[in-house]
Amino acid sequence: AAPCDIYASGGTPCIAAHGTTRALYSTYEGPLYQVKRASDNAVLDISPLSAGGVANADTQDSFCAGTTCLITIIYDQSGVGNHLTQAPPGYFDGPDVDGYDNLASAIGAPVTLNGQKAYGVFIAPGTGYRNNNAVETAIGDEPQGMYAVLDGTHYNDACCFDYGNAEPSGLDTGNGHMETIYFGSCSWWGSGEGVGPWIMADLENGLFSGVSPANNPNDPTINHRFTTSIVKGAPNLWAIRGGDAKDGKLSTFYEGERPNVDGYNPMSKEGAVLLGIGGDNSNGGQGTFYEGVMTDGYPSAEIEDAVQADIVTAGYAETSLVSGPELAVGSSISFQATTACCTARYLAHTGAGINTQVVDSASSDDLKKQASWTVRAGLSKSDCFSFESNHTPGSFIRHSGFSLVLNANDGTKIFAEDATFCPQAGLSGQGSSIRSWSHPTRYFRHFKDEGYISSNGGVKEWDAAGAFIDDASWIVTSGFA
Ligand code: AHR
Repeated sequence: AAPCDIYASGGTPCIAAHGTTRALYSTYEGPLYQVKRASDNAVLDISPLSAGGVANADTQDSFCAGTTCLITIIYDQSGVGNHLTQAPPGYFDGPDVDGYDNLASAIGAPVTLNGQKAYGVFIAPGTGYRNNNAVETAIGDEPQGMYAVLDGTHYNDACCFDYGNAEPSGLDTGNGHMETIYFGSCSWWGSGEGVGPWIMADLENGLFSGVSPANNPNDPTINHRFTTSIVKGAPNLWAIRGGDAKDGKLSTFYEGERPNVDGYNPMSKEGAVLLGIGGDNSNGGQGTFYEGVMTDGYPSAEIEDAVQADIVTAGYAETSLVSGPELAVGSSISFQATTACCTARYLAHTGAGINTQVVDSASSDDLKKQASWTVRAGLSKSDCFSFESNHTPGSFIRHSGFSLVLNANDGTKIFAEDATFCPQAGLSGQGSSIRSWSHPTRYFRHFKDEGYISSNGGVKEWDAAGAFIDDASWIVTSGFA
């Protein structure tokens, strides 16, 4: 039996079932998610290989070859129709057109399930999905359950990487108006043991780890590569549970009364469904979602334990984020532009600014060094890469405000993430395209001879779709110096 079969057997059926990696009912063979490609804006539904099976990732890979794809719809497999689409503006605007949030890259979170490739939903800051017309979700103090399988190593301390029940208005309408899983290390409200990340509940105007609105040491730091997270709530009762999605059992980190501050008992749930954002469309959070559900009713621990056993059986495993020409750690390389205008140009730096410059064997030693980079294991993800300046050792290419810049490694988590890139076979069919790990819709691009991480179309000038594919395809040569 699959997760939603198990929940149904316990009398707490799924009323939302989202999984880009697999079917969550043993008989489900409908679409799991939809992708849109940039080359012609065509869309494709990705379905399981067989009823109850893993997503057919090959259909996505062929459809998206030579272009870029975004995840446009995460279908609700429950039959209720609670699909997730691009989140509209709330109190906070998102970064995309008309204040919508960004859509996720279709290839930011590759995994295998028992050896079969599938893709999760990589939520970079600014990315969000929502359904403000959801039906059959819990309203007011009605009971509900939720689980989500997440990447426990992908999180941040901003608000709020959430999955669950929120306001259809996109506005903060007061304490108790949300009830979602939160995952991350945000400690502005509640926190758990250690430095995080933690599984907490976003109940609006607060992330809660237990009965106190502040610290609850029984909610542990949890960072399994694949983490099962659970939040559930009923009248004056709620719980946080979690465990390793690859192995073993769930633990209960809290189960008991509602938080001891006004406004959370009774709850005032409003029934919209969101992923990756806060109730008011706060969109600074980051995380990766593979599968998750919402139920009608408060599931028993036994039912959740059976769901966890099924998740373990699904066999989640990490797979490579990298493709195309191989890069050797320790080697010196240069990045040659391939756009017809610019093949004499190489990625280089002038002070802290990253640009392209004409470089050849007659160039000064200084310029040669400014255009040469030592390949390092990715500072944030070791199967991806970071690029250290041969001119200014200790400084790396990183993105900041979507510009590429050269900065000294300050040892912070954000620096490591901003300086980690995952090369893939060149989008144009030539060379390599250098994808940002933390913003996988974005690639190294030269635009007016300056360096950016750009998306293939978007609101910024340097995201212009014209010439994107060539501007974002680079020949990796051996370094000038
Ligand atoms: O509860 C934490 C956050 O506070 C909610 O997600 C958001 O709506 C508000 O900013």
